[in-house]
Amino acid sequence: MLRGKRILLGISGSIAAYKSIILVRELVKEGAEVQVICTKAALDFVTPITLATLSKRPVFSEFIKSRESGEWTNHVALGKWADLLIIAPMSANTLSKLVSGNCDNLLIATYLSADCPIYVAPAMDLDMYKHWTTTRNLNLLQERSVNVIESEDGELASGLVGKGRMAEPETLLSTIKRHFEVDSRIAGKHLIVTAGPTFEKIDPVRFIGNYSSGKMGFAIAEIAEQYGAVVTLITGPTSLSLNSDSINRIDIESAEEMFEAVKKEYDNCDAVIMSAAVADYRPKVRYSSKLKKADRAIDAIELEDTQDILKWLGSNKNQQKLIGFALETDNELANAQKKLENKNLDMLVMNSLNDKGAGFGTDTNKVTFIFPESNVTHELKSKKEVAKDIIDALETII
Ligand code: CTP
Repeated sequence: MLRGKRILLGISGSIAAYKSIILVRELVKEGAEVQVICTKAALDFVTPITLATLSKRPVFSEFIKSRESGEWTNHVALGKWADLLIIAPMSANTLSKLVSGNCDNLLIATYLSADCPIYVAPAMDLDMYKHWTTTRNLNLLQERSVNVIESEDGELASGLVGKGRMAEPETLLSTIKRHFEVDSRIAGKHLIVTAGPTFEKIDPVRFIGNYSSGKMGFAIAEIAEQYGAVVTLITGPTSLSLNSDSINRIDIESAEEMFEAVKKEYDNCDAVIMSAAVADYRPKVRYSSKLKKADRAIDAIELEDTQDILKWLGSNKNQQKLIGFALETDNELANAQKKLENKNLDMLVMNSLNDKGAGFGTDTNKVTFIFPESNVTHELKSKKEVAKDIIDALETII
């Protein structure tokens, strides 16, 4: 569930900091990327080497990383990087700084720059926790939408017994997991995503292909899996790898192989997203040995149509929802609308080659979603963000 999630863990000065070591280990095991920031006081309780080894990242504690090189720790970039900031343990001193904005260390500067959800886990001794300033400060944080993970009752470091212990690492972990739990309409649904180009063989060493990188389809498959869908990714030749073992990846080469693979899964699936750039034609004859220059057979290769997979899916549709892609250069909207109808689709993602940053090979895309009754044009975004938009749209039509 936490695969690829970016967690910023702030540790402040409290004996409970030892529990955060376990939290780092558990978060990393769950697939999260964890960046630790320690206050100076935290370093009296835990060592950076332990935290860096477990998080596989350097631990930051100062504004300046290296005085010799003038390198500084970019608190703004850290704040923007995170999907979630958790401060655990949060000492009384750090709590008062969070409330006052007294920005005298890297953790507070990062907190002030962060625009992600924030969780804090207070850890204090009995009377400190009961003190009216603590109560007031915790209330102020909650009023500002900071999520407070309540301290627990029990034996405290001082020997006193009562409330103030930081919540156990398991509680912190389950709180974080609950935060990311997606209440998605595609959770548990079976999705087929196609990606990449197809290669249509001329002879054993030559083929007709295209420039599709597969990035769009891979991003869609990964986001859908994060939303809880059961994903089969059918991909043409690409150098990409998936960041999830839970996606069923099927590698194919030609349009014909893609058609066979899609057909096998179609009856039991809930939606197909055809982002592959499937070849429209293939050589009529595929030679089993390499053509020699002298043969001249390569001078004119006769082509035949491949199966239009999406058209077939549209004509054999039951419960399945279908999303197609189209790359247009002229009369974009009208052509795309026609494609939507001809192929009996629920949505078409239209790229225009006239838009800078859209199309093959780039990490960005600019798309318009065409529905039977409406169009929605999106701005230029990363392919990951476009993938998220596509999955959000699928949620509304599934
Ligand atoms: N597609 C398919 N099978 C093919 C060709 C394309 O399933 N043999 C799918 C693509 O995966 C994509 C959509 O159909 O989702 C693209 O439709 P297509 O009519 O091929 O669009 P263009 O390639 O843009 O076609 P045209 O050249 O006719 O504009």
